[in-house]
Amino acid sequence: MLRIGVLASGRGSNFQAIIDGIKAGKIKAGIAVLITDKAGAYAVQRAKENGIEALHMSPKFFGNRDDYFAQIARELEKRGVGLVLLAGFMRIVGKPLLDAFPWKVMNIHPALLPSFPGLHGQKQALDYGVRISGCTVHFVDEGMDTGPIIIQAAVPVHPDDTEDSLSGRILEFEHIIYPEAVRLFAEGRLEVKDNRVLIKDQIVPCNILLNPQPQGGSDVI
Ligand code: GRF
Repeated sequence: MLRIGVLASGRGSNFQAIIDGIKAGKIKAGIAVLITDKAGAYAVQRAKENGIEALHMSPKFFGNRDDYFAQIARELEKRGVGLVLLAGFMRIVGKPLLDAFPWKVMNIHPALLPSFPGLHGQKQALDYGVRISGCTVHFVDEGMDTGPIIIQAAVPVHPDDTEDSLSGRILEFEHIIYPEAVRLFAEGRLEVKDNRVLIKDQIVPCNILLNPQPQGGSDVI
């Protein structure tokens, strides 16, 4: 069975969504380890509550970025990890980790990439005045939020939205599409070709979440 390693820096609600997807039997995988760069991250609490090993690895104990990510890669390899999930991990992943896990590192971003990459995607969307934003799950490459896109969900921006209200609305959909992308990976249905993600055995050749209803279920088509 697929063993997952999760990298997180904070709250860990997406980490929790993956845990819940596994517990519900939707994702056929196990979480081998949570690695955090911040000792006080709430994600660590979630790991403890769910019997998942939590490892705190601070970059300040490493000479440079490459050494840090090479050590993270070793810790993941030691535990037989086959998929690495960035779940609110606030660092650009170094090459040694990407080389050790080619097209096996995923990230979730709170905007419809390639719009609004980097920090505060929700605020960037609000400031720009877009009517629709959303979230994106993608494979990680060496750029900032530039890797091949796996699933996106479109989320409306309301005229009276604040950064908080929009972030909350987008987050509900993050918790739907991230487990869905992990499920597809665990089922061996994702392939990267020419920088595009192909989803095997998909009835409709489109992977945008349309008319999603987080409370009543969702349609990934
Ligand atoms: C999410 O909005 C995610 O899209 C972004 O960081 C936030 C992490 O939230 N990459 P959480 O820690 O998963 O609750």
